[in-house]
Amino acid sequence: MYNSWEELELNCRKCEKCALAKHRTNLVFGYGNKNAEVLFVGEGPGENEDLQGKPFVGRSGKLLDMYLHSIDLDRDKNIYIANMVKCRPPQNRDPKPEEQDICIDWLREQVRIMRPKIIVCLGRIAAQRLIHPDFKVTKQHGEFIDKNGTLMMGTFHPAALLRNPNNKGDALDDFMALQEKIKQVCKHTYDEV
Ligand code: URA
Repeated sequence: MYNSWEELELNCRKCEKCALAKHRTNLVFGYGNKNAEVLFVGEGPGENEDLQGKPFVGRSGKLLDMYLHSIDLDRDKNIYIANMVKCRPPQNRDPKPEEQDICIDWLREQVRIMRPKIIVCLGRIAAQRLIHPDFKVTKQHGEFIDKNGTLMMGTFHPAALLRNPNNKGDALDDFMALQEKIKQVCKHTYDEV
């Protein structure tokens, strides 16, 4: 347990607990407003993220920003974005369960310190790990589930939307539902835009 966000980040950046650390250019701790009430969780860094040390900076990041902006969310203002694993899996493969097991402690600490009101899981990897092991994005996207006082929702991963644009409308519906939920349960998210 860390006393501050800064102490957590400093220690996380030195992490060598799993094999992914060996191949990283940069660890991707996360990006955004650490006082935000809404946390987005992706899967893990890809090539561009590894090079720049920031989450969702490639094509899928552009699409994510479009969805965010459509409901007045902005990674520079009122949300925070993190990933299930902080280092890039080789060839962008799924992070292995054992890599997630090790890395999830960093995310848990981020959540403990941030205390977000809403966590949005971007894609299957995050949703199955954080919401339910059998979570099916195509069936359960957009549903809010209360987990110990934090509302959790899973939606499509932006990279999956680039591969399968048929789901873009459903994803937009999820973001509209998110906007309504934020208005209901968040106090300052929309004050800061
Ligand atoms: N995909 C993710 O899940 N996370 C990133 O940071 C980038 C792409």
